[in-house]
Amino acid sequence: MPIIAPSMLAADFLNMGRDCEMVNNSSADWFHLDVMDGRFVPNISYGFPVISAIRSVAKKPLDVHLMIVEPEKYFEAFAKAGANMLSVHYEVSPHLHRNLQAIKALGMKAGVAINPHTPVNLLADVLCDIDHVCVMSVNPGFGGQKFIDHTIQKVRMLRQMIHERGCHTLIEVDGGVTVENAPTLIKAGADALVAGNTVFASADPAGTIELLKNAENK
Ligand code: DX5
Ligand code: ZN
Repeated sequence: MPIIAPSMLAADFLNMGRDCEMVNNSSADWFHLDVMDGRFVPNISYGFPVISAIRSVAKKPLDVHLMIVEPEKYFEAFAKAGANMLSVHYEVSPHLHRNLQAIKALGMKAGVAINPHTPVNLLADVLCDIDHVCVMSVNPGFGGQKFIDHTIQKVRMLRQMIHERGCHTLIEVDGGVTVENAPTLIKAGADALVAGNTVFASADPAGTIELLKNAENK
């Protein structure tokens, strides 16, 4: 079954406690938390106090996706705020290998996120050092955007690269994931699906998480 990671960017910020409880009691696996700085992406989301608050009630791992420049300045602060998994963008990491080692040294799983225009083969020489690749299926910065179809091909290629190397890197797909495209993504080789609007804009968020969880049976 796929790992399901609801993106809390689409939650109701005035009822964050309630929405965290929904995720705790659902078949979701991780909390996906999007941090945006207004520099790498044209939007600003939330930071440490919100992550710490979610940490205090979350019963599942926090998968923190950094859409920020110079992410290495803040690794320790994200570890202290309670991140279990931390992803940096390839596009802001001239020293990607060093960043991966630094994240792991703080006891977190180390992820790399790639923009829609970034080819998966650029990860070839660090692939086995990465715990999870976050393949962006929209341009990062906003929830509720349309899924970019070419992502499916990127997931297939990445699956093949991981297979050839015999490593255990997970493939996460982030952006525009729906109950309709989830089965194709899982067949292409995705291990984890992030879903914001699909979950939180639905009438039954926990039921929608369950549909995503069972998507491979479709
Ligand atoms: C986009 C974020 C995503 C976003 C997904 O920059 O990285 O995690 O919240 O939201 P949906 O599922 O609504 O596209
Ligand atoms: Zn994200």
